[in-house]
Amino acid sequence: MSSDLAEFIRGLPKAELHIHIEGSLEPELIFALASRNGVQLAYPSVEALRAAYAFTNLQSFLDIYYAGASVLITEQDFFDMAWAYFERAHADSVIHAELFFDPQTHTERGIDIGVVIRGLKRACDAAEAKLGIRARLILCFLRHLSEDEAIATLNAAKPYLADIIGVGLDSSEVGHPPEKFARVFAMARELGLHVVAHAGEEGPPEYIWSALDVLQVERIDHGVRSLQDERLMQRLIASGMALTVCPLSNIKLCVFQQLGEHNLRRMLERGVRVTINSDDPAYFGGYIHQNYLETAAALELGRDQLIQLARNSLEAAFTSAAERRADLARLATYCTKA
Ligand code: HPA
Ligand code: ZN
Repeated sequence: MSSDLAEFIRGLPKAELHIHIEGSLEPELIFALASRNGVQLAYPSVEALRAAYAFTNLQSFLDIYYAGASVLITEQDFFDMAWAYFERAHADSVIHAELFFDPQTHTERGIDIGVVIRGLKRACDAAEAKLGIRARLILCFLRHLSEDEAIATLNAAKPYLADIIGVGLDSSEVGHPPEKFARVFAMARELGLHVVAHAGEEGPPEYIWSALDVLQVERIDHGVRSLQDERLMQRLIASGMALTVCPLSNIKLCVFQQLGEHNLRRMLERGVRVTINSDDPAYFGGYIHQNYLETAAALELGRDQLIQLARNSLEAAFTSAAERRADLARLATYCTKA
């Protein structure tokens, strides 16, 4: 890869649509927060913790990810975590970010959902004011828990609905199909929230169908199993459905063995609205720029394809028509100058 192309990617105005903010907790910050809050960690050092980041599948990652999140106690902790992410995103020319957060990971430990949302919202406001990043929050339900627990979480979030743009569905996929959450997603849609869901990361194409048909999602998170089902591909292409693909995550969680085998380029060339995102950057080896960079190198993506990926992200973002126009104009200006 030429340094020119790397620089071009770095400056490309882009949206990040698939980032679990708890997955941006770097080991250094985990240790700092553990010390600040008097939380005992199972690892003796930053190095030992980082050395444990060798995953064989989604569950092996989730176990360590939920343990890492146990250091988050105060509103300031949530602010500090999100602010650290925004500084990195800004360096990667992210102009719009939609952050997933997992309230149940925290409320299960006795943390009030208001503490979580207020801390994250304050960081979003600071990102807009100080970095010029438009930042939004998407509340995710943990799919390994029951739908009743998801409904209780949505109800607990009601005082904060003005601070949330949508709901999502994450955690252990196989055995927890989207239709398990039909009622809570209907409630969320009724409240005027956007809806997305992880589907087709480890789960089969049938889960993508039910995310579309039962949950009526507006984007699919991951969705890399779509290529196994031609009728599904036709549906995605015809409807312009966006997929928030996370290439480095897919390698770390062994969804693909190597980046050169990833199907992102094939989906892009078929006309699927694919985007590139970081998922859990502290755990998977890089933030959004690193995902673009390594994917471009492994799949030999050219400038036009990289621009298409950035354009897809800006088009698939939950923005107003005026915001979308402004974002796309910014991309066009960049591309004529760069
Ligand atoms: N998949 C499912 N749930 C998650 C992930 C993921 O990649 N990251 C954080 N929660
Ligand atoms: Zn994810």
